Amino acid sequence: MRIRIAAANWKLNQSYSEGINLANSITNLLGNFSDESTKIILATPFIHLHGIAEIFKRAFGLHVAAQNCSLYTSGAFTGEVSAEMIRSTGAEYVILGHSERRNIFGETDEMIAQKIKLALAAGLNPIFCCGEKLEERNQSHHFQVVRNQLMIALKDLTPQQVSEIVIAYEPVWAIGTGLTATPDEAQEMHKFIRSEIATFAGASQAESISILYGGSCNAKNASTLFAMPDVDGGLIGGASLIAEDFIKIVHSL
Ligand code: 13P
Repeated sequence: MRIRIAAANWKLNQSYSEGINLANSITNLLGNFSDESTKIILATPFIHLHGIAEIFKRAFGLHVAAQNCSLYTSGAFTGEVSAEMIRSTGAEYVILGHSERRNIFGETDEMIAQKIKLALAAGLNPIFCCGEKLEERNQSHHFQVVRNQLMIALKDLTPQQVSEIVIAYEPVWAIGTGLTATPDEAQEMHKFIRSEIATFAGASQAESISILYGGSCNAKNASTLFAMPDVDGGLIGGASLIAEDFIKIVHSL
């Protein structure tokens, strides 16, 4: 069964108490949510992971994610947080390969591939982000760019490991810009990603993997994007910081 997912990426926002309040508001607004085919994931700064995982223990279908993990497992790496440490907080997911990590912090495809392996070994489900820059789309290189990102990220994984990953297609030109991909643009790329997964990992993995859209997805445009057959939900930045907006997005799944 393909799971539909609304995932929030809080990025570098929310003090500890603000984050706990936001998670409580989302839980309260959701009420008696129980849909086996739907998941809601909050990707928070590290400081919130354990507190929110404790709140979500009592709720159905709610999960916590980190936004990054270290390339290292332990030792003298000041400031780093390993995949195993993240898992020990109760978090079940980790975003890897976000374009902000690639472009601001210099993460390469190879580093991201290594982090995916560490996350899987620690029992975390990676939310793997891919997507092209504007100039790459303008030069019609977007399919090749995304294919390369996927190929390097997934090449050493078994089909079983691939099935533990969530993919997020986030065109870089749409992130935080208000320039959302059209539903047709999103569908075209999601369909392409699914066909690439079929080649890497097999048809049944491709059919069951969740592929999320991210990039200026909000309470107004979510339902038209999510109506596309290969768009299984969204990875939401700005609009996920307002509980009411995020809940509208959840109800658009
Ligand atoms: P926005 O929804 O703010 O465009 O951010 C998208 C994103 O980067 C989610 O990971």
